[in-house]
Amino acid sequence: MSGRSTRDRPRGITARTIAQAKLNLFLHILAREASGYHQLETLFCRLDLGDEVTVRTDGRGRSLDSSGDALPADGLGPVERNLAWRAAVAFSDAAGWPNDWAIEVTKRIPVGGGLGGGSADAGAVLRCLNALAPSPLSANRLLGLAGQLGADVPFLTFDKPLALAWGRGERMLALPALPSCDVTLICFPFGVATPAAFGWIDADRGSAAVAPASLDVAGLDTWQRLATLAHNDFEAVVARHHPEIARVLEELRRDLSTNHGAIALLTGSGSTVALLSAASGDHERARDGRLDGVASRLVATRTATAVVGVEVSD
Ligand code: C5P
Repeated sequence: MSGRSTRDRPRGITARTIAQAKLNLFLHILAREASGYHQLETLFCRLDLGDEVTVRTDGRGRSLDSSGDALPADGLGPVERNLAWRAAVAFSDAAGWPNDWAIEVTKRIPVGGGLGGGSADAGAVLRCLNALAPSPLSANRLLGLAGQLGADVPFLTFDKPLALAWGRGERMLALPALPSCDVTLICFPFGVATPAAFGWIDADRGSAAVAPASLDVAGLDTWQRLATLAHNDFEAVVARHHPEIARVLEELRRDLSTNHGAIALLTGSGSTVALLSAASGDHERARDGRLDGVASRLVATRTATAVVGVEVSD
């Protein structure tokens, strides 16, 4: 530490937070750019369910460890490909600090299900490092780094629980949080690869032009109104490739309490289906065995009314 000015000194050594998962309450896939990427228009919502992420910067080398359930078959994969690791590298390159980090992730978010688990971990690493950094990056700069890591990462680095996003997810408009709503996540034993799902959409659309969806932001302030807008452009193609998903959505929607603003929809490119409802009967019906043999696991959580902050310690 010798020779460092007070300004250069980290504000602590350890930062921890909960990397909350996300749902897409609607997801419109617009034009395919020349680059192959697609313009999106989506409404992101954070959940209470999250991974625990701890980042230490005590100069003992670089590491990434993970524990908890639902790891993909190949574990975290080669560490350099992991999004949380890439977030630390991007931060270090941009801020010139730190050289070393020890990242620990306790997984709670089902992997490969469209819940943004890997992206939430990456967003948490960016927020943790910025909380520790002697010279933190501006919020805009941090979101710029997040945008280079993937379409879900900016929202999952943002400190707002509900936001519209456009472009490749980097243009965001925060909306006032809605009252917390009970959520049942219906998880499947398989994931859906996002690039493949975009490919299925392209194959379906051919050269047909896609009109931008026009949004009434005034319609996004109650669950009842939101329920009328809930839609996921991935649903038709993903359900066609995975009939189990089509069956679950059909089962859930059969008796849904639509008068309560209940929603059943695929999140991201799947495979997870989310049931949001203030009516406990909707969640009980999802648990009563009708989905046995189709869904692998049900997870109960709630929509978040706030993003969990970063706790810094020595
Ligand atoms: O953003 P993310 O890294 O999750 O995207 C995974 C893949 O999905 C991209 O490599 C690209 O093939 C496709 N994608 C796309 N348009 C977007 C976002 C992702 O075509 N807006």
